[in-house]
Amino acid sequence: MMTSQQMIPVKTLSNGMSIPCIGMGTFGSDRFSPEQVANAVSGAIKCGYRLFDCASVYGNESYIGKSFTGALNDGTIERDELFITSKVWNDMHGKGDVLISCTKSLKDLKLDYLDLYFVHWPFPNYHAPGCAGDSRNPDSKPFSVSDFISVWQQMEDLVDLGLTKFIGMSNMTIPKLEAVLPLCKIQPAAIEMELHPAFQQPELFKYCVEREILPIGFCPIGSPSRPERDKTPDDISAIDMPEIIKIAKAHNVHPAIVCIKWAVQRGQVPIPFTVDEVKYRRNLSCVTEESLTEEEMQIIAQADKNCRLIKGQVFLWEGAKGWEDLWDTDGTI
Ligand SMILES: NC(=O)c1ccc[n+]([C@@H]2O[C@H](COP(=O)([O-])OP(=O)(O)OC[C@H]3O[C@@H](n4cnc5c(N)ncnc54)[C@H](OP(=O)(O)O)[C@@H]3O)[C@@H](O)[C@H]2O)c1
Repeated sequence: MMTSQQMIPVKTLSNGMSIPCIGMGTFGSDRFSPEQVANAVSGAIKCGYRLFDCASVYGNESYIGKSFTGALNDGTIERDELFITSKVWNDMHGKGDVLISCTKSLKDLKLDYLDLYFVHWPFPNYHAPGCAGDSRNPDSKPFSVSDFISVWQQMEDLVDLGLTKFIGMSNMTIPKLEAVLPLCKIQPAAIEMELHPAFQQPELFKYCVEREILPIGFCPIGSPSRPERDKTPDDISAIDMPEIIKIAKAHNVHPAIVCIKWAVQRGQVPIPFTVDEVKYRRNLSCVTEESLTEEEMQIIAQADKNCRLIKGQVFLWEGAKGWEDLWDTDGTI
């Protein structure tokens, strides 16, 4: 059954345009082939998803493009009903590269424009696909305001060229935003960040909301199947938190559904990923059903574990002490 569009809440971006309160992630990681992810996208459009979170580095945009074309051609949807995001990868930060990357994503996704284009990570550090967690690229370097702004100016040009409606940032911190926002001609419409009950980033969330920047929450279920290289022994799984399990029992739903309801009610846009049709249908339909109570929202707010899962250690530069260096945990860049 299709979830009716009228029942799916929307969020409003700073210029008044709307975006669905929930989308679907498309990072198949090491587990799912591009074909499987593209099939899930086709199925998800049929059941009512309109927001899809894509990225060139996920290696499946050309497959997902066929899913969009299929749905547009068979009359399931019009282009302006979809909200498609993509991201420039870290190896395309050089002068002229952002336009090349965006054009390639558009060609692969078979679209004339993107709704939102992100800078995936705020530095040009990248690693070989599937590399080990302790591998280091000798070319990696710390964040630089001037390097970032030269990327952002290329992003602004894409808006002027009509290649994307909005631009956004991802994996940012308050110190980095404080440094770059005053230098941006076009402010980011959204910031993609890790957000789930075990990692709520309350300060960054508030910082964005106060500036009319929409927080988009990745790993909303705590990414239980993320690659081994992204796991450490101290990680806390959102769906295993006793508070989440108790609330899930009270509502007779899976803990993943509590994570999604919490995200939508709090005000971020979650982008859960699964290729399992039963699960992605549930993830969407749950936002139209019974809400969490104020008390349950409070319990979850207090249960935050400040446990970052996507630490980004593979992006560290030589001489960096540890992954905390990427996240300005001492309040400075
Ligand atoms: N900007 C960035 O740097 C960045 C970083 C990471 C992720 N992202 C984006 O965020 C998206 C989501 O992140 P993610 O995939 O890492 O984590 P996630 O959505 O938190 O977790 C995905 C996992 O949750 C399970 N799941 C989904 N729905 C479920 C349900 N209803 N019941 C039980 N289990 C359920 C899936 O299990 P099964 O596979 O077994 O179905 C899958 O393993 C990505 O696809 C990507 O688009 C962006």
